Amino acid sequence: MTTPGTITGWGTALPPTVVTNADLEARLDTDDAWIVERSGIRERRVGGTVSGLATEAGRMALERSGTDPATVDLLLLATSTPEMIIPATSARVHHALGLGGGAFDLNAACSGFVYALVMAYGALSTGMNRVLVIGADRLASITDPDDRGTAVLFADGAGALLIEASGGPSPFEGGPGLVAFDMGVDGSAYDLLFCPHDGHLTMEGREVFRRAVRVTVESAQAAMEGAKVTPDQVTLFVPHQANLRIIEAAASRLGIPMDRTAIVLDRTGNTSAASIPLALAEAADAGRVGPGDHILMSGFGAGMTWASALVRWDPDVRR
Ligand code: UT7
Repeated sequence: MTTPGTITGWGTALPPTVVTNADLEARLDTDDAWIVERSGIRERRVGGTVSGLATEAGRMALERSGTDPATVDLLLLATSTPEMIIPATSARVHHALGLGGGAFDLNAACSGFVYALVMAYGALSTGMNRVLVIGADRLASITDPDDRGTAVLFADGAGALLIEASGGPSPFEGGPGLVAFDMGVDGSAYDLLFCPHDGHLTMEGREVFRRAVRVTVESAQAAMEGAKVTPDQVTLFVPHQANLRIIEAAASRLGIPMDRTAIVLDRTGNTSAASIPLALAEAADAGRVGPGDHILMSGFGAGMTWASALVRWDPDVRR
């Protein structure tokens, strides 16, 4: 599938409370050197609510694109930490933003944002004109604060993209949009990373690490092959921000240098569905992508799920 569409806005939200590695050292049997060496994380943000963070990021994306919220046809909220079982957290975000159209939550864990992005382009192909895609999670809220194996990694945040239907050439002919994607899940690995109702996250870190490198590489390669794009034609690689060592290993195997890879996890920790839009928005704000550039997003997470999207960037010039 190849679908035209223009990313006309992007936004982010991080809670104000910063937790540094030194703060964790003070209450856990851990230290800054271990956390930095094993994960690349130096500090993370915690607090707020999923709907509050999602609303802030979504509002920023709408304002940046100059879009009337009432003209949005669909809100897709990727989250694995919904505020309630019923109703979907997206209903609250939809109301807070004054959106038109429908809204639903999507849970594909840390791959959720890329899953939602692919669905958003699919929605455009049904005739919708504007889809707001938000990844928002509060993984700190389901992490055992006394478990050093997970408490140093997981944190909170949100990121959003507004995608609009666009005419012109198809993405295969150089137009903006979703050029190709790859998506999958291996439910036999269900028990490697899970959180029951009213419980805490449990993770087999080493096995998740091993699989994460493999699926990121395979999935990103599948998306590039589908798009007929080679690694040297990727302007920006935006991987899920779980561990710097996973990102470095995957980027190296893909043949994409780190100076073309987006990194925010040193300041955000692992924010699950928020991590890819947080990294993409920072790179876009820094002017690291321009019209016609190829962006390769690749996520993996509990399930185990994975998804990659090769998008041709063409920010609307209304800003
Ligand atoms: O987004 C969802 C996907 N999640 C991930 O991608 C996470 C994937 N896994 C990882 O990122 C890494 O496996 C971790 C960062 C979780 C752990 O790094 P590691 O290099 O795989 O360490 P390890 O689990 O093999 O543990 C090495 C040692 C152990 O001690 P022993 O058994 O060697 O005595 C751990 O108990 O490090 C110990 N350890 C710690 N030490 C200090 C575990 N956590 C900590 C800690 N501080 N916070």
